[in-house]
Amino acid sequence: MPITKFLSSFHLISPSLLLSSKEAMAFTAFWFIGLCSLLLGYGVHVEASHKVFLNLQSHQNATTTTHQPYRTGYHFQPAKNWINDPDGPMIYKGIYHLFYQYNPKGAVWGNIVWAHSTSTDLVNWVHHEPAIKPSIKSDINGCWSGSTTILPGYKPAILYTGIDPQNRQVQNLAFPKNLSDPFLVEWTKPPQNPVMTPIDGINASSFRDPTTAWKAPDGKWRVIIGSKIDRLGKAILYKSKDFIKWERVDHPLHSSKNTGMWECPDFFPVSVNSGVGLDTSVTGPSVKHVLKVSLDDTKHEYYTIGTYNLKKDKYFPNKGSIDNGSGLRYDYGKFYASKTFFDSSKNRRILWGWINESDSVNDDIKKGWSGVQAIPRNIWLDKSGKQLVQWPIDEIEKLHEKPVDLQSTELKKGSVIEVSGITASQADVEVSFDLSTLKNAEKVNPSWDNPQLLCSQKGASVKGSLGPFGLLVLASEGLEEQTAVFFRVFKNQKRYVVLMCSDQSRSSLRKDLDKTTYGAFLDVDPLHEQLSLRSLIDHSIVESFGGKGKVCITSRVYPKNAVYDKAHLYVFNNGTEDIRISKLSAWSMKKAEISY
Ligand code: FRU
Repeated sequence: MPITKFLSSFHLISPSLLLSSKEAMAFTAFWFIGLCSLLLGYGVHVEASHKVFLNLQSHQNATTTTHQPYRTGYHFQPAKNWINDPDGPMIYKGIYHLFYQYNPKGAVWGNIVWAHSTSTDLVNWVHHEPAIKPSIKSDINGCWSGSTTILPGYKPAILYTGIDPQNRQVQNLAFPKNLSDPFLVEWTKPPQNPVMTPIDGINASSFRDPTTAWKAPDGKWRVIIGSKIDRLGKAILYKSKDFIKWERVDHPLHSSKNTGMWECPDFFPVSVNSGVGLDTSVTGPSVKHVLKVSLDDTKHEYYTIGTYNLKKDKYFPNKGSIDNGSGLRYDYGKFYASKTFFDSSKNRRILWGWINESDSVNDDIKKGWSGVQAIPRNIWLDKSGKQLVQWPIDEIEKLHEKPVDLQSTELKKGSVIEVSGITASQADVEVSFDLSTLKNAEKVNPSWDNPQLLCSQKGASVKGSLGPFGLLVLASEGLEEQTAVFFRVFKNQKRYVVLMCSDQSRSSLRKDLDKTTYGAFLDVDPLHEQLSLRSLIDHSIVESFGGKGKVCITSRVYPKNAVYDKAHLYVFNNGTEDIRISKLSAWSMKKAEISY
């Protein structure tokens, strides 16, 4: 019985009034024991990064509003309820599959199953019944995150974390019931589950989120599981010949001090000399490896680029690639628990990530939903070899309509130009800037080592010399509401430094929202390259890509007035130097077809 139902039964007339004293005692004892075991069951600490609201987990549609200005038009979102991590994305027989963490009973985290949707283009989706739900001992308390691997004979396999009756995290397998069904709607769990358990010193509440497996040259599969011991974050390594019997390798693939729990690790090869994606098992001299971890403590993800040493079966980040929770991020805004897969149909690697909320739990219950998935991004190694680059998959361009173009236009100091002719609440815009007067850039202060802090101190309304300039999105007509995505250019002795910010401080007249300003330094040399910015705007989501995808920042905003046709898009320059827009292209975005 759900605990809400159980607790609400206390509002009934006391049954002792209707029963004999013996019956009443027996009845009371029955409920007392029931209550204790329920509280014990629910009270045992299930460690995950999500806030647990026991009484709201099954609060289905209690107060869902019909007024829904914040639902997205072309981001992936189910009809209702809570979602979190993307799970097991893959392409199989020409069909893309996305599974994700889902609460079928409410708009807060809980009752977690693997919801399932398919697509032929990663834009339009069909929802299916959940692929994996609690049904066996080793997942009876939840089916948490995991990944798919395509096994020889073209057979997909899912490895996922199950929560067992003692609330231990264990790893389970699932296989499609019918391989000739291209949608793979039904999945079965083999009797060997669980295939990995937290023994020999593994912390049972920090042992989760298996990656896609890769096959090493010795013919054995490898997989990593996120974990920690005290504050030492680590990727526990397992190997297997047959994908069923797994043995733990005596050392982790990688670990790092003081980073806490590593959730949703991802480990994959990237090509050093081209942007093509590689199958997860590829190794060789022209390949580097990426290890990404989602840090439970900060809800930020970090990645390093390095070498997978096959002899040692260990990963070593490159010199300068920081693995202590202060290095490079896929996205400097709201983007977590991400996962990549190799798209063999187009030889590319695609990244999915969960955009979490900036409003309150009460708001989520009112809306009837929480969380969306970011637009899938193509991801590859930058020419410099020092960072990754991401770009929205080309397929979303088929949603473009009503194009608007601006060529070489002056953007004088202090000016704000409206981009009209598009639906500014559901749009795609890309702009590049030409800076001719770099010599007047302000000097970098050597103490500036925290770009996010710098962006919040120097928000869009703080005048500079070269910048702030960029876009004002989801803005109200009088600019009382605006999300400002912009650049500032500074100089130090040797070179120019570009700061990219997403300032949410004025994103809504509402007060009860997370309006953290985000920022990062962008590795673009404005002396030789144009500074470009692309933003995907979708009612309450702004996904921005600076320098052609070298820095990504995703924001979740809830404007009060700048909704539907009251939303506007502007280009602005609040610096004291004039600059030029070398080109601006904007489109309204059609709605993606997502069938429920
Ligand atoms: C990350 C995470 C995973 C876990 C899942 C549970 O958001 O906490 O570590 O498997 O969510 O829903």
